[in-house]
Amino acid sequence: MSSKILLVDDDHAHRNMLKTLLRSWGYETVEAGSGEEAVKAVKQESFDLVLSDVRMGEMDGLHALEEIEQFNPALPVILMTAYSSVETAVEALRRGAFDYLIKPLDFDALKATLARALSVFQGALEQRGMREQLAAVSPSGALPSILGRSPCMRDLLDMIDTVASTDATVLITGESGTGKELVATSLHAKSARSSKPFVVVNCAALAETLLESELFGHEKGAFTGAEKRRDGRFVQAHGGTLFLDEIGEMPVTLQAKLLRTLQQGEVQRVGQDVPINVDVRVIAATNRNLEEEVAAGRFRQDLFFRLNVITIAVPPLRERSEDIPLLAASFLERCAARNKKKVKGFAPRAMDALLRHAWPGNVRELENAVERALIMSKGDFIVPDDLPLSITSAGHAPLDTSSLQNMTLDDVERLAITQMLKVTHDNKSETARRLGITRSTLHSKLKKFENG
Ligand SMILES: Nc1ncnc2c1ncn2[C@@H]1O[C@H](COP(=O)(O)OP(=O)(O)OP(=O)(O)O)[C@@H](O)[C@H]1O
Ligand SMILES: [Mg+2]
Repeated sequence: MSSKILLVDDDHAHRNMLKTLLRSWGYETVEAGSGEEAVKAVKQESFDLVLSDVRMGEMDGLHALEEIEQFNPALPVILMTAYSSVETAVEALRRGAFDYLIKPLDFDALKATLARALSVFQGALEQRGMREQLAAVSPSGALPSILGRSPCMRDLLDMIDTVASTDATVLITGESGTGKELVATSLHAKSARSSKPFVVVNCAALAETLLESELFGHEKGAFTGAEKRRDGRFVQAHGGTLFLDEIGEMPVTLQAKLLRTLQQGEVQRVGQDVPINVDVRVIAATNRNLEEEVAAGRFRQDLFFRLNVITIAVPPLRERSEDIPLLAASFLERCAARNKKKVKGFAPRAMDALLRHAWPGNVRELENAVERALIMSKGDFIVPDDLPLSITSAGHAPLDTSSLQNMTLDDVERLAITQMLKVTHDNKSETARRLGITRSTLHSKLKKFENG
């Protein structure tokens, strides 16, 4: 189904030209000749996007934008404006426009902006479908399942299904916050061992001797402080799964003992000679590159081979940004329930910022950002201002220098200033500071643009 765009312009010729263009790109269009008509249309029909001129007779595009925003905050509105009204454009963004384009229109830029806005809107729609689904599955919103519909996550879910039923050792790799522990939990839950214990040991959290007794247990009096005999985690996990998190941090001497246990299926308590048989499936995770650790002599190659029977690599979030709307919606749902707050979803520009961010902290960072946004939010929708600044300002794509070829130095200056005003939400002092000019220089430049 093609997307439906409401085209608003009082200039008949310009509107016609745009209509032809949009239709040639496969969009369905409905036209409005004024702001009032546009508002009426939005209240009567459903659209995927509004493309509107700013300067029109009675009701200008800004007012129309405001009314449309009020009626349907999830609907992206793109404004078209002349070069001379940079300030208007900034005002438009402040009032919730998705983006603005400068006339005369650059058709490639128009095409790209439309596509971006529509994909964000699509994401918002999916969000809603998703929320209904989530609500149906678990009314409390607590759903520890692995969410993702990107091709790489589908492959990963298939892999989990295939591997879960075997007793093979699995090594889960991936950057911090990608969901390694969640994958381990899911492997256990889907295995025949699911009714038996799932035991987690974080190999980075304990010093060597403590980690050894934690894993293998100790006899009474095996060392100072060992007041009674204690089972290790291996014994506790008997029949179930032992998850060795951050295995890359395990001291080399312990690695040797772990390897023996894995090979022989028996553990030896510290201070005891008789081994105990255990039936444990081992899953290990690391955010290090173990091959590099092996090459550097910090990780035993034989243990690496033993653990690496099956590897599940969890991709970083930036390589599966299609999953962001789904994840964000589910986190929002969960946080809202927890905080007893009502929020309908993300405004298009907020979702756009989420989609553009690189997420170095992966899913965990997204989860935290959504939680913070929910706490900050005052309206029905999460807006960019609710998000951490690192996300809203870092989201801007790097400057495409090929577009500089047809620009004068004046144009470049204008572009830099407009962009920075966008980033700082029209904060002039901050804009001047970041551009390395004084406030009064900024003012005189803005004046010059207005008159040019
Ligand atoms: N695909 C996903 N669907 C739903 N929630 C997810 C998904 N991936 C990760 N999460 C959530 O993100 C958070 C981080 O995940 P997890 O702790 O599994 O990451 P990790 O890779 O083990 O991180 P670290 O390397 O820092 O230990 C958790 O709250 C988890 O529930
Ligand atoms: Mg983890």
